[in-house]
Amino acid sequence: MKMKMKHNEYNCELLDVTKNNIQNLYIISNKVLPIHYPMEYFYKILPFESYTTTSNKKKVVHGSKNEIFYTKLAAYHGIPIGCIKAKTLFNKNNIIPIGIYIEIIAILGPYRNKRIGRKLLNYVEDECKKSFIHKIYVHVSVNNLPAIKWYQKLGFVESDVLPNMYQLNDGNSCNAIIMVKTL
Ligand SMILES: CC(C)(COP(=O)(O)OP(=O)(O)OC[C@H]1O[C@@H](n2cnc3c(N)ncnc32)[C@H](O)[C@@H]1OP(=O)(O)O)[C@@H](O)C(=O)NCCC(=O)NCCS
Repeated sequence: MKMKMKHNEYNCELLDVTKNNIQNLYIISNKVLPIHYPMEYFYKILPFESYTTTSNKKKVVHGSKNEIFYTKLAAYHGIPIGCIKAKTLFNKNNIIPIGIYIEIIAILGPYRNKRIGRKLLNYVEDECKKSFIHKIYVHVSVNNLPAIKWYQKLGFVESDVLPNMYQLNDGNSCNAIIMVKTL
């Protein structure tokens, strides 16, 4: 059966992140979010040693050996307009997965409210189900009321407050709320 699309829903596609398009993750995140994320933060998602650069004649190896990331770019007519970056959280012994933590979810302003964020979240939820993980966590700045309401709409509840979690670009800091969705 063909699903009917809502009038303002965009039929975007989700792209895997590779060394050829990873720059878009950096650009979208830093354009949308009030915190600066260095490029190194994103290189960690690439498979270990899949990407290398030379800095001061020293070979720099990117990628992460022991973290599991879930990352996608959302593209509309081939143009990246949103992204998600999440990773598996493990228990204290680093053995049992206890949840997936969304580090970044960001949609460029003109493309919001077109169910693209929902599609990115669905991708992470599907990954949870495949791995028998039942919790999705996220931190949100207490000031980011639209995002808090959005997470609530999509089934997250507030669970805790982390004081001074975010160091903002203007030098100030603010508290974060931990929100959790149980699948
Ligand atoms: C939060 C964000 C990711 C949501 O993505 P989006 O693509 O705009 O949201 P969607 O269109 O998928 O929204 C899904 C549903 O939530 C509703 N919704 C959208 N914004 C909402 C809001 N602020 N409050 C309540 N509901 C909201 C939509 O109407 C839609 O409802 P429907 O499916 O029943 O029609 C996006 O707005 C964004 O990038 N914001 C800025 C960055 C940010 O704050 N990121 C989170 C940091 S932790």
